[in-house]
Amino acid sequence: MKMLYRLLITLLVVTSLISCTRTIKNKSLSISSPSEINSVTFFLAEDGSAKYMVKHNETMVIDTSSMSFDFKNQASLQRGLKVIGKTNKSFNETWEMPWGEQREVQNNYNELIINLQEENAPHRKMNIHFKAYDDGIGFRYEFLAQEGKDSLTITDENTEFKLTGDHTTFWIPGDWDIYEHLYSTTPFSKINAITKRNHPNLAQSYIPENAVNTPVTMRTSEGLHLSFHEANLTDYADMTLKIDTTQLRMTSELVGSDRFQHKVKRALPFKTPWRTIQISDKATELIDSKLILNLNEPNKLGDVSWFKPKKYVGIWWEMHVGKSTWDFGMTQDMGTWTNDGNPHGKHGATTENTMRYIDFAAANGFGGVLVEGWNTGWEHWIGFDDREGVFDFVTPYPDYDLQKVVQYAKDKGVEMIMHHETSAAPRTYEQQLDTAQALMDHLGIRSVKTGYVGKIIPDGEYHHGQWMVNHYRKVVESAAKRNIAINAHEPIKATGLRRTLPNEISREGLRGQEFNAWATDGGNPPEHLPIVAFTRMLAGPIDFTPGVFDIKIKGKPNNQVNTTLAQQLALYVVIYSPIQMACDLPENYENHPALQFIRDVGVDWEQTVVLNGEVGDFVTIAREERGTGNWFVGGITDEMRREIFVNFDFLEEGIEYEAIIYRDAPDAHFKNNPTSYGIEKTVITKDSNASFILAEGGGVAISLKIKN
Ligand code: NOJ
Ligand code: CA
Repeated sequence: MKMLYRLLITLLVVTSLISCTRTIKNKSLSISSPSEINSVTFFLAEDGSAKYMVKHNETMVIDTSSMSFDFKNQASLQRGLKVIGKTNKSFNETWEMPWGEQREVQNNYNELIINLQEENAPHRKMNIHFKAYDDGIGFRYEFLAQEGKDSLTITDENTEFKLTGDHTTFWIPGDWDIYEHLYSTTPFSKINAITKRNHPNLAQSYIPENAVNTPVTMRTSEGLHLSFHEANLTDYADMTLKIDTTQLRMTSELVGSDRFQHKVKRALPFKTPWRTIQISDKATELIDSKLILNLNEPNKLGDVSWFKPKKYVGIWWEMHVGKSTWDFGMTQDMGTWTNDGNPHGKHGATTENTMRYIDFAAANGFGGVLVEGWNTGWEHWIGFDDREGVFDFVTPYPDYDLQKVVQYAKDKGVEMIMHHETSAAPRTYEQQLDTAQALMDHLGIRSVKTGYVGKIIPDGEYHHGQWMVNHYRKVVESAAKRNIAINAHEPIKATGLRRTLPNEISREGLRGQEFNAWATDGGNPPEHLPIVAFTRMLAGPIDFTPGVFDIKIKGKPNNQVNTTLAQQLALYVVIYSPIQMACDLPENYENHPALQFIRDVGVDWEQTVVLNGEVGDFVTIAREERGTGNWFVGGITDEMRREIFVNFDFLEEGIEYEAIIYRDAPDAHFKNNPTSYGIEKTVITKDSNASFILAEGGGVAISLKIKN
């Protein structure tokens, strides 16, 4: 209610409607962003095909590009169009995030809606909506009712993005099944996604052609930054971008369904997701941009105060590093399990072990405990083709007393976090969804981590196709009805829906920390996160699970985390999520002085200031915690040692802050000496300045608490 009230009082809508119904021939139609930095121009070519261009000040960023669609059992909508009307609107509001990187978000844009119709029969109609913001451009298509047709089957959307140079591009391949790839940095003309096929550590991957997935970020030779993505991906397929290395052009390539031999099927009328281009002079402004959120609809759930942003620990890393297992060691034949009384003894999710984690969470003020491997099914998941009917989302293993751990956690003021690994059998999950969520509700478990490891069953569907987009949404929507929050792994990408459904709290959708435990390609290189901050992070919160202290990973001679310990701390500030895991084993944290930073750091922010950064090199972010006024700063670098400068002028005037600085020691290096760090205490004010040396793969983390 409070939020709605605030929204009402801050809502300032300036709407000017200019509608006209005459046919507008061959004339271009333009809009500019509120301060006229960005503009978009639409026109019809001689053959009546739809074209658009985008400018940033006087610089052309998207040259003449076409927009068209191909359908099943219908002619393409490509040429022969006329403009039959247009509407201009201006909008300015400030809305409040229930949890987020900042409390208030300004949503200020100019809009142009163009009504198109075919000159010839069957005179189909389509509207194109353009919105121009100071941080970028969004546009979407609207398909109107058609006589004699109640649905439309799209076989291709052909939205072009014609670039104006061979920009430096930070990209992952357009994989239809997973986003867990390392980023490549190449000139646009050198993008080659095919080379990313057959990664040995991916349980599913399908890269049909030379395409990239979004957000894909570019830097032009003039230093302008562009990032291409989509907003409000609803009942549609994920948009990958096909790469034309000679024409320097991208064209939308929707993820398809081999089962149905189409990309999208929708009832008419409907609107597509927004196609977005974030545009900024400085790299840091990409992180400031709220374009993706603003292009989504307002909060539909109202009060979501039942979800509290939190830090959590869990029975998780110990499986990834091989200390324990998800499975119990039953005899399993699809949906039937027999406990032959001889478990292998390495099962991680035991009642006793869970209580140990609950004790650790309670002692350190961490609000949640995740337990993976608590339920039956893990004997038959990865590596099996027949996974339908295997996982059971309500039946614990014999050594896990669900009721007992939930009660134990409650008594200690800690909340359990549920885990539902579906092994990419969404139909099995949907059958049990209501029962599984009802159990959570009954136990007072308010959040669940879901997972979709493996090839989707049925065959011919992909993680990122329309059918799965709808599955992921169904899970979020049904969870919302019971006040349950979703953190999906192997998810569909974030497109800002957390604004509309704020129970969509976080997700994976990138190469996370887990790869450092077992990847056979050397793990995530130090440049990974300085790229992620300007690519994947523009889409939304990331469940990266930072906080490894045992960087060299005892017992795993071939694996290590490629950062220093100080960088692991800095990630709590740099990588945004309303849930942040302290992922290492309790025994690696116990009595460790650096744990204090993870105990102190906020997870919900009043405001965020991106202090400096360049894509793939380094980034420093300061965030003010909601409710306390304390600030936290995190800075990270790639494999280069560098000095970063911090001007503390973002702090409040007249206040002294007790600063604790966690920094790389002079001899620190991610490879040879990652845990060499120092802790320093000092007093910092708005007038303070400081520079910090970040080691190779290093970082700096600072807590700034208001001095009493
Ligand atoms: C992959 C997830 O990313 C990881 O966090 C999880 O532990 C495993 N799947 C098992 O569900
Ligand atoms: Ca994963």
